[in-house]
Amino acid sequence: MSDLLQAVGGEGFKPFDLSNPAQYAKGNTPMMSKAACYINGTWVTSKRTDKTIEVEDPCTNQVIGVIAHFGKEETLAAIAAAKTAFESWKKVLPNERAAAVRRWGELMTQAAEGMGTILSRESGKVFAEGKGEVIYSASFGDWYAGEAERIYGDVISGPHLGTQATVYREPIGVVGLITPWNFPAAMITRAACAAIAAGCTVVLKPAQLTPFSALVLAQLAGEAGIPAGVFNVVTGESASIGSALVESFDIRKISFTGSTRVGKQLYQGSAETMKKLGLELGGNAPYLVFEDADLPRAADDLIAAKFRNSGQTCISVNRALVQSSIYDEFTKLVADRVKALKVGNSFDPSAKIGAVIGKPTVDHMAKVVEDAVAKGAKVEVGGHAVPGAGYFFEPTVLSNVPHDTALCCREELFGPVLPMVRFDTEEEGVRMANDTRAGLAGYFSTSDYRRQFRVAHALQFGMIGCNDSAMSAACIPFGGVKESGLGRDGSKYGIEPFTDCKYVLFSTV
Ligand SMILES: *[C@@H]1O[C@H](CO)[C@@H](O)[C@H](O)[C@H]1NC(C)=O
Ligand SMILES: *[C@@H]1O[C@H](CO)[C@@H](O)[C@H](O)[C@H]1NC(C)=O
Ligand SMILES: *[C@@H]1O[C@H](CO)[C@@H](O)[C@H](O)[C@H]1NC(C)=O
Repeated sequence: MSDLLQAVGGEGFKPFDLSNPAQYAKGNTPMMSKAACYINGTWVTSKRTDKTIEVEDPCTNQVIGVIAHFGKEETLAAIAAAKTAFESWKKVLPNERAAAVRRWGELMTQAAEGMGTILSRESGKVFAEGKGEVIYSASFGDWYAGEAERIYGDVISGPHLGTQATVYREPIGVVGLITPWNFPAAMITRAACAAIAAGCTVVLKPAQLTPFSALVLAQLAGEAGIPAGVFNVVTGESASIGSALVESFDIRKISFTGSTRVGKQLYQGSAETMKKLGLELGGNAPYLVFEDADLPRAADDLIAAKFRNSGQTCISVNRALVQSSIYDEFTKLVADRVKALKVGNSFDPSAKIGAVIGKPTVDHMAKVVEDAVAKGAKVEVGGHAVPGAGYFFEPTVLSNVPHDTALCCREELFGPVLPMVRFDTEEEGVRMANDTRAGLAGYFSTSDYRRQFRVAHALQFGMIGCNDSAMSAACIPFGGVKESGLGRDGSKYGIEPFTDCKYVLFSTV
């Protein structure tokens, strides 16, 4: 272990007691018993700094715990540990790597109540969604356990007589993983399970606003028998940790989920060391509703795709585009249903919608509503911040929104505001839907089979939901086109980017 780091808590130390979820649901039990990071299979503090960072509950503004404030030096120590571990992990048989990630996923499922409680508390999402995210996170363990054993190469007839070309897929090396606050666990496991199953090792920088789920994952990785140095978690000064990962030649790939702005910086920064990149960036998802759709079903589907996680997902509906002939009827249907959605604390069982992550989001929602109204839109439901403690914004529906000028259509919203826009013909609807530099998810509802194929092909997005927007799962390739990023997470397409192609020419004469 690096001289800089100091083990804490002794042998078998566990900073989280997942057997007692209730203690994390309210009150003042700190989420983590000791502010430490997980490097080389050990919980450590730094001899260089004992600074910590406070983490708050977005529902109450209460401080719920502190995390270690590591920087560049500690990150380099984590990279060194991951590099050493890579030399042995890459040689472990695929079926053993599979067993380790499968066990990791199983432990997440077993800890779903405790981990879901911690995750809900730090992110402000309602507990049903928090626990649901843990189950979703766990599914990547099982999925990539399967894929670990199905990484195939090729044998090609050689370029001249008496030769054979063999193509191997080898693990890429140490992966730097940088993850967002909106899904504090799932955005980690979908990449980490793939990387570890492929034989890579990982240094993770979780979001500073939601670090505890990541640290719970570290505890469970240890319990699952994932060897020391294979999965490391560093919390602290985001810019220093990020640049240490980007600048290090030993990091051979960066996997990032987050904003398009930061994604572009990482892309530029990675040029110097020619890293591979997996980038899952912002979206601006349209939801087209055609006049022949089943309107009540389309309304429910649209609302789920808009208000899940308070609108803070990269595939959240940003714009509802509704055909003129049904615009008024459909808008009323949606507005009536949204009116009934209750906003509340993570642990209020009647609440359907939790908090947003912080004050900037609340202010931004108020600003886009004001902008749309100034440009002629009407507020059908909501439109205001919820007074009192915590960061809450009313689920909002805006009608008659001018698509070409309103900010809420032009930029990614990442909050609970739904603009409803009118279109006349299919061609016009598709043109409006495609009119964005983002290309992550797009949705539409229609009962005409021919239109289903036509529109699915015409939309320029990496993921399309036709009559069903619940598209996320371990078995599907998640990712975007245009400025929404590079590569895919999940499915068989999610593991190959953690491997390099090696071609060997064998002479047989
Ligand atoms: C990590 O821990 C292992 C033992 O678990 C040790 O052999 C190795 O030297 C450590 N690596 C670093 C870089 O500290
Ligand atoms: C989706 O398509 C099917 C088959 O055409 C149709 O029965 C169903 O009503 C459509 N769903 C919606 C939401 O329009
Ligand atoms: C999507 O719309 C854009 C903008 O109108 C258009 O350029 C593009 O051709 C459309 N895509 C398809 C495949 O029709």
